[in-house]
Amino acid sequence: MAKRTPPTVFLTGATGAIGSRVLEHYLQRGSEVLVLVRPRERQSSAERIAALLDAAKLPAEPRRRAHVVEGSIEEPHCGLGRLERERVIGAADLFIHSAAVTHLGAGAEECHRANVLGTENALELARLCQSSGRLRRFAYLSSYAASGTARSGFFAEDSLPAKPAFANHYERTKYQAEQRVREELAAGMPVVIFRPSVTVGDTKTGRIASFNLFYQAVRIFGSGMLSHWPDLRQRKVNIVPVDYVARAIRRGLEVAWALGRTFHLVSRNGCLLKDLFDLVKAFPHLRIPKLVPMAQWSLHLLSHKEQAIHRALETYLLPYLNDLRLETRNAERLLALPVINPTFLRRVLEYAVKAGYLPAEIFGPLSRGVGTTVAG
Ligand SMILES: NC(=O)c1ccc[n+]([C@@H]2O[C@H](COP(=O)([O-])OP(=O)(O)OC[C@H]3O[C@@H](n4cnc5c(N)ncnc54)[C@H](OP(=O)(O)O)[C@@H]3O)[C@@H](O)[C@H]2O)c1
Repeated sequence: MAKRTPPTVFLTGATGAIGSRVLEHYLQRGSEVLVLVRPRERQSSAERIAALLDAAKLPAEPRRRAHVVEGSIEEPHCGLGRLERERVIGAADLFIHSAAVTHLGAGAEECHRANVLGTENALELARLCQSSGRLRRFAYLSSYAASGTARSGFFAEDSLPAKPAFANHYERTKYQAEQRVREELAAGMPVVIFRPSVTVGDTKTGRIASFNLFYQAVRIFGSGMLSHWPDLRQRKVNIVPVDYVARAIRRGLEVAWALGRTFHLVSRNGCLLKDLFDLVKAFPHLRIPKLVPMAQWSLHLLSHKEQAIHRALETYLLPYLNDLRLETRNAERLLALPVINPTFLRRVLEYAVKAGYLPAEIFGPLSRGVGTTVAG
């Protein structure tokens, strides 16, 4: 049987935690990938991508197939001039829209501009790609939180709830953006939607390009910044390895039956807070907060400074300790769901220590004698 030519991909958000892994994944499998990137601080767009591919230790041959296209999703046609636009339209078999403002404390305006208007601009460019007859799929990176985490409940894969309750502007704008994508699907765009849960490091190495709320919460809990915390050890946060997310996206864009479907890219079991605390607690010099039974919990147990930290955790972390029931029928048909275990958790924390995100003087012993390779 003749080997199929790998698809050419147009990717937004390639400098992000998920986007960078998607970029690597397609490059390693022979694709040409056009990446929409903007310069940042003193780094050009090309330098940013080169730094990411260095960190991934990607050999010269696949690296040559990464092509930087400078732009911003906040501009019409993603900021591409006519020539660049024609280049993308003439080449893209797959359009993967991963760029977004993901910081849970981001304001309404910032989230609206990047997540809602940014998605509309991506869809506008995708329509041009579609009209050229080349585009096979438009992949949208939504989130399991787009259904609104401020209320417990059952979240279906192929629809959004009619009356969601949002915990922050990120969730609200991801919901609105997914609605726009669904309208486009109804109008004939070949859409596939992916909703990952809280995405953490690689299954084998723990590697990830940036550190989200999971890591931020671990940093706070292990650093002794809080003397007390309510005992929520039986709550879970659904985390998922980044390499699984990238594999599932590629598979979802390959199989015919996935067209028009939505996938909850989540782990089978999530992470019980108890397991995380047990892991961190194994190191006697860590100052884990004293856990107070819910019935006795009071903010007055905390100093003023601690109360501010606690409020931030309530805003950013508590919504994700919600007892959400997520449908995974589509996702399970695509690939087996990953399972989170203490060895994996340990690897994820070890990488964050080696990458300098978790302070070595506090978390250092986690990585003693393990010998995992850290790429970047
Ligand atoms: N990571 C998770 O836990 C998670 C979970 C569920 C869903 N998701 C969704 O998955 C997608 C990828 O997430 P991620 O974790 O990779 O995000 P991330 O690490 O925060 O990266 C966000 C990416 O979006 C880009 N971006 C933001 N505004 C842009 C603009 N105006 N123009 C061009 N690029 C822009 C960023 O570029 P700069 O580097 O230039 O800022 C970066 O590449 C997002 O849509 C997110 O909502 C993520």
